[in-house]
Amino acid sequence: MSEIDSLKSQLESLQAEALAAFAAAADLDALQALRVSYLGKKGALTEVLKGVGKLPPADRPVIGKFVNQTKQALAQALDASEAKLAVKAKAQRIEAERIDVTLSGRKRGAGALHPVQHGLDEITAIFSQMGFAVAEGPEIEDEFHNFDALNIPPEHPARAMHDTFFVKQMSDTPMLLRTHTSPVQIRTMKRFLAEGDEPPLAVVAPGRVYRCDYDVTHSPMFHQVEVFKVDRDVSMAHLKGVLKHFLSTYFEKDVAIRLRPHYFPFTEPSAEVDIGCVFCAGKGCRICKGSGWIEVLGSGMIHPNVLQSVGVDSDAFSGFAFGLGVERLVMLKQGIPDLRLFFENDVRFLSRMGVAK
Ligand code: DAH
Repeated sequence: MSEIDSLKSQLESLQAEALAAFAAAADLDALQALRVSYLGKKGALTEVLKGVGKLPPADRPVIGKFVNQTKQALAQALDASEAKLAVKAKAQRIEAERIDVTLSGRKRGAGALHPVQHGLDEITAIFSQMGFAVAEGPEIEDEFHNFDALNIPPEHPARAMHDTFFVKQMSDTPMLLRTHTSPVQIRTMKRFLAEGDEPPLAVVAPGRVYRCDYDVTHSPMFHQVEVFKVDRDVSMAHLKGVLKHFLSTYFEKDVAIRLRPHYFPFTEPSAEVDIGCVFCAGKGCRICKGSGWIEVLGSGMIHPNVLQSVGVDSDAFSGFAFGLGVERLVMLKQGIPDLRLFFENDVRFLSRMGVAK
């Protein structure tokens, strides 16, 4: 066979082989690899073309034309296969991304405020509407603010009764988790006087408190709101008026209140405050143990020693104070039987009792 015939037949079989390979390509990537292997710089066609240089010059244009035809045929076949494979790839992608629009959606539960947080906000708001300023204090306290300044000296039995959590000591001052929000009275009065202000001073202080205690009505962490007012001529009548307004607003009805003499180191006189039972309207039931009254908070006239401990002239000024447990009030308002429900984070309870914001 002449040189030129041999080249022609090489090109023919190359073309036949290439067309078959293009037609069989499984996807666009495979086709691209074939394009390189036949038409690329180092491809099969280039390899055959190397033989052209050895032909006599007269034969070269003949074979050149033949080569161009082969190239064209390959290019056309590649384009045709590419178009076919592109359609196939698109169909596959659509199939893979198919969405069943008839499936029902996944519902996202709406969040709600925890009932205790809601109660805390509600209680604080009632006092701020009455003109009390909101103040906060640290949850890690020293003994001075939690006890001494509140007229609870080191040997005082009330100090032992508070079931205090002490914090690992980092300095000379023993630190503790505050057992009540009353230390905010001390901090706020001190700050107020340091800024050169004079009473009147009316403050509501919401926050977390801690005691080493755990049962149906006690949790080691719970919330209190401390309320106090210092001014000239503040009396128990003011205390009672504020309590009556607050409790009736909170329980959304006219609740009866009763002050029972009691003892707190930081108030004199002191009183525990009862409300007419919100469940039986005073007739006597299981919740009020038949008495018709439910104890809700502790209160009194701020002890002169407390005023003096922060430098308020206790001859010129007097004040009332009270402190209430938030969980207790929320339980009474919502009819929740066990304090521990607040802290177990059972979504069935939280979504029923939580309050949408
Ligand atoms: N700090 C008291 C406690 O946690 C509650 C209390 C009672 C606060 C009487 C007061 C008060 O301000 O006057 O048990």
